[in-house]
Amino acid sequence: MRIFSGIQPTGKLHIGNYFGAIKQWVELQQMHECIFCIVDLHALTVPYDTKTLQESILEKAIIYLAAGVNPEKSIIFVQSQVKEHTELAWLLNTITPIGDLTRMTQYKEKSKKFKKNLNAGLLNYPILMASDILLYQTEIVPVGEDQKQHVELARTIARKFNQRFGEVFKIPEARLPKFGAKIMSLQNPKKKMSKTDLQDAQIGLFDEPEEIKAKIMKAVTDTGKIIKYNEKLKPGISNLLTIYSLFSEKTIKEIEKKFKGKGYADFKKSLSRLLIDSLEPFRRKKKELLTREVYVKEILNQGRNRAQIIAQSILQEVKKKMGLF
Ligand code: AMP
Ligand code: TRP
Repeated sequence: MRIFSGIQPTGKLHIGNYFGAIKQWVELQQMHECIFCIVDLHALTVPYDTKTLQESILEKAIIYLAAGVNPEKSIIFVQSQVKEHTELAWLLNTITPIGDLTRMTQYKEKSKKFKKNLNAGLLNYPILMASDILLYQTEIVPVGEDQKQHVELARTIARKFNQRFGEVFKIPEARLPKFGAKIMSLQNPKKKMSKTDLQDAQIGLFDEPEEIKAKIMKAVTDTGKIIKYNEKLKPGISNLLTIYSLFSEKTIKEIEKKFKGKGYADFKKSLSRLLIDSLEPFRRKKKELLTREVYVKEILNQGRNRAQIIAQSILQEVKKKMGLF
């Protein structure tokens, strides 16, 4: 099967992003043909810094690699380097009803947030995303809950095109993670861990040991002393147990048993150790890759060449069907 997913180049990744998205990618690449994209054109729809954009793109490529995406197996590339994405997006624009775009949750939220400076790119964002997906005859799109609606729209657009102009596109499907789909904030365990939240509320994938320890020791816990999972009554300790379980690959029951008769401080110390050790290979790999910029750029170049071959052939078919030659 062919898999396609993307993350915007802006912002710092946390363990929620890892378990919610990137870990799935690393697993899927064992069995499937995977294409992972750094979607820089999507990032232009909100305010950004032109001076640091290239740096952020390279850093995301390093992060994909450090987290286990294998460039020998998977294609990693930058969206703006394959111009077929924007060309297909225009063609799909002409068959997408405006009403389908204005009802998107993300558009509604962002148009409130950027009321003063509402650009057409924010409205058309899901068309570019549909074009990313459809350009590669994608079958599975691994994303978090928030992107499900956009993948649904990509399906609708694909069906509509096929009906009107003749069968070209495969109909893609979103895939959401099963366990760990929602890691909560360390400072407010009723809210999801978010890139835009306070640094103390999230564990970055590349945080240094001292930062990890300080954040875990400061994490909000609940009244009582027992280490027991109860999402409703003990959301803080339950979130920490989930994190413990995801990193140790032990069940919640096994962990509760291990900490029977012990207090929160002991549990937090052990969790800090586990996180520091588990994230060590990520830190090491990132440091190493930061000194190998030429190698990373070469991976992106090769990724672009491989992606372009697929994209060109599908776009050609689309244009033919639309009567463009
Ligand atoms: P974002 O941080 O919104 O750019 O999301 C990038 C990917 O990480 C998406 O597929 C999200 O669904 C996923 N993700 C973001 N936050 C979390 C979280 N707290 N727990 C699990 N997955 C998450
Ligand atoms: N819109 C997605 C997000 O913000 C990123 C994205 C762009 C994407 N194109 C995609 C994800 C294609 C999956 C497939 O998370």
